[in-house]
Amino acid sequence: MDKTRKLQEIGEKIKTCQQCPLYQTATNPVPGQGSASAQIVFIGEAPGYWEDQKGIPFCGAAGNLLNKLLSEINLKREEVFVANILKHRPPDNRDPLPEEIKMCTPHLKEQLLIIEPKIIITLGRFAMNYFLPQAYISRMHGQLKQILWQNLNLALYPLFHPAAAFRRGEVMSQLKDDFLKIPQIIEKIKPLELKPTQKSLF
Ligand code: URA
Repeated sequence: MDKTRKLQEIGEKIKTCQQCPLYQTATNPVPGQGSASAQIVFIGEAPGYWEDQKGIPFCGAAGNLLNKLLSEINLKREEVFVANILKHRPPDNRDPLPEEIKMCTPHLKEQLLIIEPKIIITLGRFAMNYFLPQAYISRMHGQLKQILWQNLNLALYPLFHPAAAFRRGEVMSQLKDDFLKIPQIIEKIKPLELKPTQKSLF
């Protein structure tokens, strides 16, 4: 079975998922969107109002900013895969609870093991902490890490969440600066034999 079909099957599973109570208050599940053979996967926190309405990740204000940042570095949304830590919207956009993350992330794990990306770009602390549980976003944003995760050699690039950038001007400029380094990272990763280490590449 090809990767697209496998991702569709996970999407179907997510539609009927009742592992945690969030399905009761959500309008639509938001499994993820993009290319099944993407080299780059962006991971956010959880669906917000518009994502819940449409079943599409990052399609509201934060998504508009993400799209703008992507176009500034000549990356198309169709070339990457975009997903979230949680597949259903938490009521009133509250933070994900630890037990919700525990129950929902097996879906994300399955998706990543199918896509087998080279680079994972996390947006915000919840997505970063899925891979680096002890890390602080204020220190770690914009630092490229090589990690071994589920037998995949991954370049992990934590960024601030676009929604946080709307709240604080300095976060917006850091997010933009960090984003502008993505083309360098893509160039760096291509020829690199990735080895698991926590060392920063820059
Ligand atoms: N914020 C997120 O973390 N994910 C979305 O899909 C939208 C907003």
